[in-house]
Amino acid sequence: MFHFLCASTKKEASRLAADLAIDLLKKNPEAVLGLATGSSPLDFYADLVEANKAGQISFKKVKSVNLDEYVGLAPDHDQSYAYFMHENLFDKVDILPENTHLPSGTAKDLDAECRRYHELLLEVGTPDLQVLGIGNNGHIGFNEPADVFPENTSAVTLTESTIRANSRFFSSMDEVPKMAISMGVGEILRAKKILLLAFGTAKAEILEKALFGEVTPRVPASILQTAGEVYICADDEAMAVIREKHGAIA
Ligand code: F6R
Repeated sequence: MFHFLCASTKKEASRLAADLAIDLLKKNPEAVLGLATGSSPLDFYADLVEANKAGQISFKKVKSVNLDEYVGLAPDHDQSYAYFMHENLFDKVDILPENTHLPSGTAKDLDAECRRYHELLLEVGTPDLQVLGIGNNGHIGFNEPADVFPENTSAVTLTESTIRANSRFFSSMDEVPKMAISMGVGEILRAKKILLLAFGTAKAEILEKALFGEVTPRVPASILQTAGEVYICADDEAMAVIREKHGAIA
C-alpha cells in the first residue's frame, strides 16, 4: 500500500519524510533504521541532524544498517558510502559508531562478506524504517534490472547506466567502481515501513513504471507494489508522469 508524501520541492518533500522518521524515533528510540546514500536522502538527513541538535530525537539507542557499498573503496575513500554516512549523518548525531553497519567494500572474499552481512542483518533485527532511493533504471539498493529479484545480500556488477549516473562523483570513468555489495530485495522487504525518496525529472518515468507498471525484476523497485507500508516521498518533478497518467492522486 502506497502513501504519498509529496510537495513542490525536494526540500519540502524531504521535510515530510523527516517528520515520519522523527515521529518514529520519538515513539521508538531503539529503532533499527535501514539507510541509503546518494543525493536523494541529503535533505532528509540534514533535517534529522537538526532535530537531533534541537533535542527532539536521540540516536543513542538507534541501530543502522546501510543498503550498500562500492567494492574496492575503503571507508576513508571520500566516495565510499561509509564516508558519505559519516559526513551526512553519523558524525553529526549522537549515534554510537558500533551501532552503525555497512557492507565492507574491501573484503577479500566477497561471498563471505555477503554472508556475514546477511547474518548481521538478522542479528540487528527487522528495520522499523528502510530508506530507499531509486536508480534511473529502477534499481533499489544496487539490485539492478535482472531476470530474478536477488533475495539476500550479494556482490553485484553495476550496469552501464548506473556506472554513468555514479560517474558524476568521480574525476574519471576509470575510477567509478564497477561492482557493489548490496542488500537483497528479500532483506529490503523485511522492513516494517519503507520510505522511497524520488526527486527531479530524471526519476519521473521510472517512478511511474515502478509504482504502476508490471511487477518485474526488470524494474526492481516494482517489487514495492507487494510490500506492506510504503511511503513515496517525491517532488513535483518526480510526480509529473504519475499525475499525467493517473491523475492527481497525490
Ligand atoms: C544508494 C542506493 C542507490 C541510490 C540510487 C539513487 O545507497 O542504494 O539505490 O538510492 O542510485 O541515487 P540518487 O539518490 O543519487 O539519485
